[in-house]
Amino acid sequence: MSKLWQKTTNVDKLVENFTVGRDRELDRQMAAFDVLGSLAHTKMLQSIGLMDAADLMLVQHELKTIYTEIENSNFEIEADVEDVHSQVEMLLTRRIGEAGKKIHSGRSRNDQVLVDLKLFFRHQLQQVVSETDTLFRQLVQLSEQHKDVLLPGYTHLQVAMPSSFGLWFGAYAEGLVDDLEMVLAAWKITNKNPLGSAAGYGSSFPLNRTMTTNLLGFESLNHNVVYAQMGRGKTERVIAQALSSIAATLAKMAMDQCLYLSQNFAFVSYPENLTTGSSIMPHKKNPDVWEIMRGKCNRLQALPNDVALMTTNLPSGYHRELQLLKELLFPAFTDLIDCLQMATFMLQNISVNKNILDDPKYTYLFSVEEVNKSVLNGTPFRDAYKQIGLDIEAGNFNPDKTVNHTHEGSIGNLQNQQITEAMDKVISSFDFKKVEDAISWLVK
Ligand code: ARG
Repeated sequence: MSKLWQKTTNVDKLVENFTVGRDRELDRQMAAFDVLGSLAHTKMLQSIGLMDAADLMLVQHELKTIYTEIENSNFEIEADVEDVHSQVEMLLTRRIGEAGKKIHSGRSRNDQVLVDLKLFFRHQLQQVVSETDTLFRQLVQLSEQHKDVLLPGYTHLQVAMPSSFGLWFGAYAEGLVDDLEMVLAAWKITNKNPLGSAAGYGSSFPLNRTMTTNLLGFESLNHNVVYAQMGRGKTERVIAQALSSIAATLAKMAMDQCLYLSQNFAFVSYPENLTTGSSIMPHKKNPDVWEIMRGKCNRLQALPNDVALMTTNLPSGYHRELQLLKELLFPAFTDLIDCLQMATFMLQNISVNKNILDDPKYTYLFSVEEVNKSVLNGTPFRDAYKQIGLDIEAGNFNPDKTVNHTHEGSIGNLQNQQITEAMDKVISSFDFKKVEDAISWLVK
């Protein structure tokens, strides 16, 4: 007998395989967090008299050993064990006997997996914030470095007005600030403790949920036990929104990169070893990195919809298919973090073309500049507009190609400092320190 819940009957092998699904593989990623949850839960059990001090000592010591084994990749969910929760409890009981059998009082795998997921998501969100921050700094640095290099701005993909590399890089940097506002909202919703909701309806034991909330470094708790269970799916949904927000920014940037790398634009270039070749065309240097990123990030934008479809119309209470949400969220984090790292790496190696606007096809970029000069000299806008239009039609348009934009957020006044302050403010709102302190105290 290998199931926590098994009494006498053996479950059909087909049913077991179908229901366990990818849990053995995916749960490994939550293993350290499962142990943290148990470290907190058992301390709480002892505090309310459901575990004696000697048992607690044994349990805590062995849980910490398992934690270290997990850290050292020396942990596996055995073939006939259902999930990480069963594996950890089984290891404990195998190694320390009776005391191991006591850790599950006042708990169900339903709130156990809920808390594991919240701890895991918190950890992943912290990585996302950190990688986004790194990419942000890279973009701001490039924006400052190339602030005087002009770039054609397009509307309708038609040559429109002067832009600059300062604006282009800085725009994506500012986009990431707003994306992290979304991540902050997801963080806040994630950072509430569901432990103690048990199967979804609480327990007749006098659990101290405030205690586990503090031990695990949560900001507060999901108070209502029924709502705590509803957090499965809801948490994933808001996280999916946040990840998809970053993904949308990256996908747009990746598309710009592919376009700007095309010979018809040739605005940017990369060292040859960062591009990929063709098996038939010997001259090719393809932007495959940005294409894969565009694809992954476009796919990530389907995530909120995937989560919604899987959970829409589920009544309150636990349902087994909630397990499948792991298959959506876990790889999404991996993909997004990969993309953030690759974007930073590529941008560390980007070169920009400094003479783009010398090409005569960009002459008309300056039509509005000329109209505005005329307005500054006293001509009403509509008359100035008409005169420049007539000059263009007659082939008499010879603009002075200097730009003088001074207002907030324009070519000559990028406000990268304000954008950086906004970023610093969002990042300082994440209480990573509190979380890290709580975890290191638990495993100490
Ligand atoms: N693997 C399960 C999940 O992710 C763990 C909880 C199982 N609970 C249950 N009532 N069968 O949801």
